[in-house]
Amino acid sequence: MFHSVEQSPGDPILSLVEDFKRDKRAEKVNLSIGLYYDEAGQVPQLACIRKAYERLANTWDKPELYLPMEGLASYRQAVQHMLFGEESEAVKAGRIATVQTLGGSGALKIGADFLHRYFPQADLWVSRPTWENHIAIFAGAGFTTHEYPYFDPKTGGVDFEAMCACIRQIPAGDVVLLHPCCHNPTGADLSEAQWDALIPLLKERRLVPFLDLAYQGLGSTLEADVYAARAMVKAGMTFLLSNSFSKVFSLYGDRIGALSVVCQDKETAERVLSQLKVTVRRNYSSPPVRGAQLVNIVLNDKELARLWREEVAAMGARIRTMRQSLHTQLSARLPGQDFQYLLAQRGMFSMMKLTPAQADRLREEYGVYILRSGRVCMAGLNEQNLPPVVNALAAVFST
Ligand code: PLP
Ligand code: LMR
Repeated sequence: MFHSVEQSPGDPILSLVEDFKRDKRAEKVNLSIGLYYDEAGQVPQLACIRKAYERLANTWDKPELYLPMEGLASYRQAVQHMLFGEESEAVKAGRIATVQTLGGSGALKIGADFLHRYFPQADLWVSRPTWENHIAIFAGAGFTTHEYPYFDPKTGGVDFEAMCACIRQIPAGDVVLLHPCCHNPTGADLSEAQWDALIPLLKERRLVPFLDLAYQGLGSTLEADVYAARAMVKAGMTFLLSNSFSKVFSLYGDRIGALSVVCQDKETAERVLSQLKVTVRRNYSSPPVRGAQLVNIVLNDKELARLWREEVAAMGARIRTMRQSLHTQLSARLPGQDFQYLLAQRGMFSMMKLTPAQADRLREEYGVYILRSGRVCMAGLNEQNLPPVVNALAAVFST
C-alpha cells in the first residue's frame, strides 16, 4: 500500500542537526539551528522558569485535564499585555482575539488555516528569503505563495525600495508575512522609520499583514522589537501576530506560543475567537498545559517578570557581544573584506556571504555547521569556539 511513498529530502535545518549529532569530532560547532546557547555552550534553563517550576511542584500529583481549545485564559491575557502593552487601547477594548498555540509554528498553522478558510482567494507573500517553514506551512494550508524582494546581499541590509515597489503591486486582500524583528534567516531588519513608511502602504493597498515574532527582546528591547505591531494598532489596522516563546523563555520542547488577531471591534474579535477555536479543534483539539502554566506564572508575577526581562536582555547582549567579536576577529584576519554587516544585522542570525559549497567545506573540513544558504546562528558562538570558527571562516573566505 505505501510502496509508492517517496523519501522526503529532509528539512534543510533539522537534517543538519541530525548530521551534527552523528558527527564524532570533538571540536564540532553547531551554528545551524536557531537555538540560544549561553557562554558555556549550553542551552540554558532560565532562572525565572526554575522558580516557576518550584511553584508548580506541589501540583504534580494531580491529574492534568484538557485546557480549553483557546488555551489558558490568564496566559492569553498576559501575552496580550506583553505584545501590545497593558495600556493598549486595542487590549482594553477587547478587540484582540488571542489563542495559545503549539509554539510559533502552531500559531502560523492556525492563522494560515483560519485565513484560507475565510479568504480562499488570498495568496501569501513572504520576504526573499524567509524561514523555509513559512512557505511550507502556508502552502500546506492551501495558499499559493510568492516572494517580495527583501534582502540585499550587496549591503547585507534590506532593499526597502524594491520591497515597497513590489508591495504596491500586490492585489488587495492578499496576506503579507513580515518579521517584526530579528529577521530569520538574514538578521536584516526594517528601521522604525521604514515601518512608518510601510504601514500606510499596506493599509492603502488593503493587504493583510501577518507579523511573525519569534525573537522579541533579542534584537533590542522587548518594546522596541514589537514596534511594528504597536504602530499597526495605532494606525487602526487589522492584522495577525504569531509569537513564539521557544527562544526567549528557552522552552523549545514545551511548544508554547500564541496567535493574536487584531480586529476592528470587540464583537468581531469574539467571532474570530470562536473560529480560531474551531481551527484548533480540527487540528489538535487543545494545546498542552505545561508551557502555558510556566509562562503564565512568570508574566503574572512582578518579581519573576522582572527577572525574565533581565534574562532576555542578557541573552540579547551576549549575542551582540559575539557579533562584535566575530566582526573584530574576522576583520583582523581578512583586512580587505568588509564585515560591517555583522554589526548592523540583529538577533540570532546573520546571512554571511558564503556559497553552498563554502558552507559544505566549513562543515566537512572544520566541523562548523551553518545552513547552506550562508545563515549563521550567532547565538551558538562563545569565547571558546570563536577562534576555531574564525579560523575556519578565514580559510574558506580566502580561497
Ligand atoms: N517563526 C520564525 C521566524 C522562527 O524563526 C521560528 C523558529 O523557531 C518559528 C516561527 C517557530 O517557532 P517555534 O519553534 O516556537 O514553533
Ligand atoms: C531555525 O530557523 O533554525 C529555528 O527557527 C528552528 C526551526 O524550527 O527551524
